[in-house]
Amino acid sequence: MHSTPDSSPRDSWGSQAGFILAAVGSAVGLGNMWRFSYVASQGGGAAFVLLYLGLVAVIGIPLMTSEFVVGRLAQVSPVKALPLLGGRKWTPLGWMFVFAGLIILSYYSVIAGWTMRYAWEAVSSGLPKDTVAYFNDAATGLPAIGWHVAFMVITIFIVAGGIRRGIERAAVILMPVMFVILAGLAVYAFFLTGSREGYAFYLNPNLGAVFDPQIIGNAAGQAFFSLSLGMGALITFASYLKGRNNLAKEATIVALADFGVAFMAGLVVFPIVFTFGLQDQIGASGLGALFVSLPAGFASMGAAGKFVGAAFFIMLFFAALTSSISLLEVVVSAIVDSFGAARRAVAITMGTIITIIGVPSALSLDFLGAADALVGNFLLILGGFFTAIFVGYSVLDKADAELAIGLPSESMRKAWAFMVRYVAPPILLGVLYLLIAPTWQAIRTLVGLGN
Ligand code: TRP
Repeated sequence: MHSTPDSSPRDSWGSQAGFILAAVGSAVGLGNMWRFSYVASQGGGAAFVLLYLGLVAVIGIPLMTSEFVVGRLAQVSPVKALPLLGGRKWTPLGWMFVFAGLIILSYYSVIAGWTMRYAWEAVSSGLPKDTVAYFNDAATGLPAIGWHVAFMVITIFIVAGGIRRGIERAAVILMPVMFVILAGLAVYAFFLTGSREGYAFYLNPNLGAVFDPQIIGNAAGQAFFSLSLGMGALITFASYLKGRNNLAKEATIVALADFGVAFMAGLVVFPIVFTFGLQDQIGASGLGALFVSLPAGFASMGAAGKFVGAAFFIMLFFAALTSSISLLEVVVSAIVDSFGAARRAVAITMGTIITIIGVPSALSLDFLGAADALVGNFLLILGGFFTAIFVGYSVLDKADAELAIGLPSESMRKAWAFMVRYVAPPILLGVLYLLIAPTWQAIRTLVGLGN
């Protein structure tokens, strides 16, 4: 259909399972590993988990289905797919997606660089006892820049390899390994002395929290970030899809897998935290739980700690890598499809630009946090809102026909359209309203006015 200048056919997935694994790989990342368990414990434990599941069901799965449908229908990057299907007024939304990808990857890679360093040192020399000092040394400055560059080089290398031989191959190898390590860690954590106490803290329902607007906002932001929604990443992935599968079913599989991994990460984190008396530290710093508390737990485990710590950070590194490649792919495919440039050159050029944009995040945690609040939270929800308007009001007939290829049930498609038209937009508008104050604060931090 669409072809590159030398008129070789556009790349595509080798198999449907490869596509699903790559989409799960995009969704499962730093977002679920740590942020989910941390936010869940802050906002009412099991009640938060239920609220989160509800949002995934009524907004997450319908929007993911929408992204899949648009991508498979258009067979081209969102910057071209949106105007192709809905008219030229939608072009800016496509470029907003690219902007979001540039910024999110720029700081995501900094955090992923920390996990690489932790994994490396856990394997080679073992993580030091003073985890606060260690984190402060790893998080910012020259070492952080160095590991950020290293992580970007690997990400660029995979994306330069293309869809089938780069992204799909990486997901097919890394995702199963990541999943087995995580399951092993959850079993190990079950046998720790503090596991019951950890589960109780994690899963203790506090139903009042479900009605707290702040917690609803957190849950929505978390759902978007974790499911890789709101910046066309899944439109991009689905644009390399052939075939007649049921995209609603596949979106459900991806969302449930993402939730399962997030839930399991909590089953690893909280037993460790309670066994080694690290409760005070979880709430203390945003990023502290993962990079300060857990290594302190590993250090207290004795001989086993070296092994467990290494397994944990290697698992995290794999999860981050299969996400970062999807972020870079949004940017690369936009430029390849718009200007007919060669993938390898674009991957290297754009990857280098993103690496440079990430340097301030590697120098200041405040900057990193503000970039996440502005783009990783607010802009994704805004992107999701416009995606719902686009699919629900601008191209609904075409999208419905495309979805019908794999989902003949008219009542199911009606339910999907109802969610996209009437449920997602008002809820997302409400969440955007709740996010105005924190987002404004983030902008002030980014331009250096305060924090
Ligand atoms: N979902 C990933 C995580 O949880 C991050 C991510 C990858 C992402 N691609 C994305 C977030 C696209 C938003 C949009 O870590």
